[in-house]
Amino acid sequence: MQLLKMIGIAGSLRKDSFNKIILRHMAEQQRPKTVNFSIYDLKHIPLFNGDLEENGDPEAVIHFKKAVDKADGLVIVTPEYSHGVPGVLKNTLDWAASVTNQNVLDNKPAFVLGASPSPLGTAFAQAQVKQTLAAAGALVLQQPELYIGSIQNKLDEAGNLTDKKTSKALGQSMETFIQWIQKMNR
Ligand SMILES: Cc1cc2nc3c(=O)[nH]c(=O)nc-3n(C[C@H](O)[C@H](O)[C@H](O)COP(=O)(O)O)c2cc1C
Repeated sequence: MQLLKMIGIAGSLRKDSFNKIILRHMAEQQRPKTVNFSIYDLKHIPLFNGDLEENGDPEAVIHFKKAVDKADGLVIVTPEYSHGVPGVLKNTLDWAASVTNQNVLDNKPAFVLGASPSPLGTAFAQAQVKQTLAAAGALVLQQPELYIGSIQNKLDEAGNLTDKKTSKALGQSMETFIQWIQKMNR
């Protein structure tokens, strides 16, 4: 069976980010053997500037866009700030969806989820991310939806995800995302 390439990004730069924990759990614990899952940290992505873009994408953006372009699927695990998408993530999606240079999100299968200490589990932020992805032409998995609330209660002291229900939901949604990509690739 052909190896699927998955790239995952978290919309947080924080070292101990809850959303990075979820992303790592997916890549390390829930990855089927048929999937190559790489995590991309957004810390080197500069602020979007149309003047920079006109002269060609900056080095860090080229590197990121190549990784997205090569991937069969994009997993986005987003926090929520002030009922919206974090600037770090929106900024990255704006570079990736360039109208001047290559738009690497066009036709890219994407799965969006998120984790928060709040019980609403990033519902507002995810809606905005999905709207941005749709504008860029990405193919967004509509179901399942994963809003991971009260995340601080679902981890052990070392910061590992211990909540069995959440872990199971992550595994099942990964499986659905993979099957959906495979169906579209047929
Ligand atoms: C400026 C700011 C605004 C926030 N607004 C929200 C919010 O609207 N909804 C929410 O669920 N959490 C909100 N939070 C709390 C974040 O969910 C929390 O900081 C979370 O840990 C960030 O994700 P991370 O752990 O992946 O870095 C906010 C945090 C900050 C710093």
